[in-house]
Amino acid sequence: MTSRTGLQTHLADRLQTWRTAGLGRSTVDLSSGQHPVVDIDGDRRLLFSSSNYLGLSHHPTVVAAAVAATRAFGTGAGGSRLTTGSTTLHRQLEDELADWLGYPDCVVFPTGYAANLAALTVLADDTVTVFSDERNHASIIDGCRSAKSNGADVRVYPHQDMHALRRLLDSRRTPHGLVVTDGVFSMDGTVAPVGTLVPLAREHGCMVLVDDAHGIGTLGDGRGSAAPHSPAPDVLVGTLSKALAAEGGFLCADTVTCDLLRNQARPFIYSTASPAPTIAAALAAVRLVRSDPGHVRELQDNVRRLTAGLGLAGTTGTPIIPVPVGDEAEAMAVADALRQDGFHIPAIRYPTVPRGRAILRVTVMATHTDAQIDALTSAVGRWRAARAAAPVPDREPPQPPTAR
Ligand SMILES: Cc1ncc(COP(=O)(O)O)c(C=O)c1O
Repeated sequence: MTSRTGLQTHLADRLQTWRTAGLGRSTVDLSSGQHPVVDIDGDRRLLFSSSNYLGLSHHPTVVAAAVAATRAFGTGAGGSRLTTGSTTLHRQLEDELADWLGYPDCVVFPTGYAANLAALTVLADDTVTVFSDERNHASIIDGCRSAKSNGADVRVYPHQDMHALRRLLDSRRTPHGLVVTDGVFSMDGTVAPVGTLVPLAREHGCMVLVDDAHGIGTLGDGRGSAAPHSPAPDVLVGTLSKALAAEGGFLCADTVTCDLLRNQARPFIYSTASPAPTIAAALAAVRLVRSDPGHVRELQDNVRRLTAGLGLAGTTGTPIIPVPVGDEAEAMAVADALRQDGFHIPAIRYPTVPRGRAILRVTVMATHTDAQIDALTSAVGRWRAARAAAPVPDREPPQPPTAR
């Protein structure tokens, strides 16, 4: 092996600094599917961190649709949507999503990340101010960075603070505006005030984009956080990778917006399409959610049982249930203790959440049993009791490095 370049040494130093600060990460490799009980590293564990919220990734109808599409279309897509990768299944899925969610048109992207990146990059040029909630998903933040490089003005408002948003909207200097928010915030499970936000944006002549990656399939009748509200957001982004048990992202809007994206969105044009089996699985999942409300109801029953057990009843009603810890090292220790108790619940730390605000991010699925939910409630109760009895540590929090 040749000697290291200066850059390689610099990269190794950065990685070491990162790990020393307690921020090191590595993958955990499951040898089973996203069931309530999974095999990880040779151990059986109760899984409380999956986004397979409705448990549809193993539903016989969904699996059969993916198998049939594999036989008909093969495995890989073989090209981007604009070359050879688009199939009749992609078109059917777009039509089904647009019809279900009440929009004239829909575009399917390779991932939800790509959908947000594409939307912000294409919709926000130098005539636009983007107003973005401070806790929006990283894909929206990266979309805002891209919008900024187009010359867009980007303003970040405090989490769900409609007074602060109004002040920012009042001071807009560009001809156009776009307000962007998660529907269900991915780390704290809070729900955006869509019913207030859309009229407020409209009052100021601005468009609204809601990313409901975690709300679609989980809230209301499955149509998510925006469905009960009128007027609806102008643009609704979702993912196929969570409740819809597949992979890919989508964006519902009017036909002009969708056509502009098909023409100019680089993540749509320059990335290979999602393969047909994945699209067939998503299509089957959407049809199941539309035709049988039992899936969503079972999930919502489990959300109620777990939040009540954890003493969080009356909170957001979403399947994302954050258990606050604070200190990064303590969060890792709690996750480890829960692992020894037979649970898989990763600690979420900076930079995914702000420094010193680490959480255990618990998610619940429709397929968890009451006994599994109660077992988690007891385990978290034991940790909380031990923490309450422990002396308060007398030390300054470390100053970790900054993420890029
Ligand atoms: C709020 C939100 N938006 C977008 C995404 C990205 O979706 P995907 O995983 O399909 O890229 C996620 C995924 O974690 C998310 O939580």
